[in-house]
Amino acid sequence: MRRRISFWIFPVSVVFLIFLAACMHGQRDSASWAVLSPATAVNGMVATQESLATQVGVQILKQGGNAVDAAVAVGFALAVTLPQAGNLGGGGFMMVHDAKSGKQVAIDYRETAPASAVKDMYLDANGNVVEERSRFSALSAGVPGTVAGLSLALERYGTLTLKKALAPAIRLAEEGIVVTEALTTSLEKHRETLIRWPETAKIFFKADGSSYAPNEVLRQKDLAKSLRKIAEEGPAAFYNGSIGEKLAADMRQQGGWITREDLRNYRVKIREPVRGTYRGHEIVSMPPPSSGGIHLIQILNILESENIQVLGAASPDTLHLMAESMKLAYADRSLHLGDPEFWKVPMRGLISKTYARKLGQLIDKKRATPAEAIKPHNPVPYESRETTHFSVMDRYGNAVSNTYTLNFSYGSGIVAAGTGILLNNEMDDFSAKPGVPNAYGLIGGQANAIEPGKRPLSSMSPTIVFRNKKPFLVTGSPGGSRIITTTLQIILNVIDHEMSLADATHAARIHHQWLPDRLEVEPGFAPETLKKLKNRGHRVELTEPFGSTQSILKIEGRFYGASDPRRKGALALGH
Ligand code: DON
Repeated sequence: MRRRISFWIFPVSVVFLIFLAACMHGQRDSASWAVLSPATAVNGMVATQESLATQVGVQILKQGGNAVDAAVAVGFALAVTLPQAGNLGGGGFMMVHDAKSGKQVAIDYRETAPASAVKDMYLDANGNVVEERSRFSALSAGVPGTVAGLSLALERYGTLTLKKALAPAIRLAEEGIVVTEALTTSLEKHRETLIRWPETAKIFFKADGSSYAPNEVLRQKDLAKSLRKIAEEGPAAFYNGSIGEKLAADMRQQGGWITREDLRNYRVKIREPVRGTYRGHEIVSMPPPSSGGIHLIQILNILESENIQVLGAASPDTLHLMAESMKLAYADRSLHLGDPEFWKVPMRGLISKTYARKLGQLIDKKRATPAEAIKPHNPVPYESRETTHFSVMDRYGNAVSNTYTLNFSYGSGIVAAGTGILLNNEMDDFSAKPGVPNAYGLIGGQANAIEPGKRPLSSMSPTIVFRNKKPFLVTGSPGGSRIITTTLQIILNVIDHEMSLADATHAARIHHQWLPDRLEVEPGFAPETLKKLKNRGHRVELTEPFGSTQSILKIEGRFYGASDPRRKGALALGH
C-alpha cells in the first residue's frame, strides 16, 4: 500500500507543480518561488545548519513561541548539536525585527579582547606574527559573548523563560545526540586540533581515541551541567559564577589571559543596524564591529547603477561588475573598519550613494583593475573558518537573523576544564600586525589593532531585507571573509535575477576581497564565461564551494525556507 501511494505521489506532484506554475505565470512574486523552494509553510519557518536544532526551533514556534524564543533555543541547541560552530564559548550577532514596534535592533555579542591584551601580543622577538599563538593557543580566545547575548535577546524580545529556552539543549547534551555523518566527518577533519587538549579529546573522541561513527550517541555531560547552571542562575553563572571561575582557572593554567574580571566586565551592545536601499528594498544589516553590513550595502549601492538584471546572472559582464565592486569595498575595509568604540568608522560615508557613484566611476567596464592599483578611498565626507547562521520567522511578523561563531571549526580547540565549553579563537580576527593577513587573508591596520576590551572586526552579516516595509528575506552565512559576498549574492539572485530562494542558494558564487588579487569562482560557471573573465584580466581561481546560507523568504503570507546544500546536515523546516 505504502509503495502504491509513493508510486503516485511523484507524478501527481509534478502535475500539480506544472499546474501551479502555469496558473501563476507572470506573477513574479509567487510563481517560481512557490514551485521551487524546498520548504514552505504558513505559520513560521526555521533554517539552520543542523536538523535537530531546526526541529527545536519549529517545536517552539508550534507551541506559540515567537521567532526570538525559537532563535535563542536554536542558539543553545546548536552549541550541543553543531559543536564546530554553535557555541557558548564564542560570540556573534543577532538582528531582530520586532513586529510590535516595527523596529529592528542589532544585538552585538561579539567577543572582546581581555583587559591585559596588548597590540603586539602575537609577535615574536623579531616582530613576526606567530599564527600558532593567535589561532591555536589559550591566548587566541576572546571573552565570550554568546551566553550574555542569547539571554539578553530572550529577556527583551522573547516570551519564554531562560529555563524553557535552554531545556532542549540540556536534553540533547544529557541524553546525547545521534551522531550524523556530517559530525563524524567534521570531528575527523579536525582531530589534530582537538586531541592536543585532553579535556577536549575526552569529549569528542572515545577513550581509546577512536572516532564516533554515524548513528552512535555522543553525550556531553559537562556541557549539560553548564547549561543547567545557566538555566538555574541565569547568565551570571557564566560571567560571575562557577562556570566563569572554571574558565578563568583553566586560562591561568593554559597561559590564557581571560580573567574573572574580564568575564564580569563583558557587556552585550544593542546597536542601531546599518541601513541601505536596493532597488526599492530596504537592507538592514550588521553595523561595526562587523564590516558585513557596511560593505554589503556599499557593493549593492555600486551595483544599483548597473543594469545587471539585463546583463543576466552568471554572465561575464555581471560577474565582472560584481568582482570590481567587491575589490573596492574590501580595500576600504582594510583601512576604515574596526570596533566603533575604539575607531571612528566613516560609516555614513561608506554607505552613501554618492560615494558609491564615485567608486563606480573607477570601474573599467572591460578590464579588471589589478589589486595593487586599487587603494582604500576616502568616503565622501559626512558629518558625523566555522561559523553558523540561522534564520527564523514567525506568524506574528517577527524575524531573526543570527550569525555566531567560534571563528575556526571548534575555535581554539580548547575546552575549559569541567565546563564542556569550547573556546573561540576570535582574537585572530584582529590585525596582529599592519598588512599581515589573518586566517582569511584579510589585512588591516590601526583601525583593527589589538586593544584591551576591543572587539575584533568581523565579516558576519546577519541581514533582513524589507519589501514594502515588511520583512521579505532573512539571510546570512558563515565563510570568513566570504560572508559578505555570499550574502550579497543571495540578495542579487532574489531581487535582480528573480530566482527562487532555492535557486538563489544553489547558484554558483564568486568572491573577490581585493587582496589577494584573485577572483575565486565556485564550480558551475560556463568555461566560456571564465575565459571571458580571464581575458578581461581577472586572475580566476576555481575554489571549493563556500558559505552556507540559511535563508527564509516571505511572500504573500507564505514562508519559503532554503538551507544551503554546500554543507551536510542543514534543514529548513516550517509549520
Ligand atoms: O567574525 C568573522 O568574520 C569570522 N570570525 C567568521 C569566521 C567564519 O565565518 C568561519 N566560517 N566558515
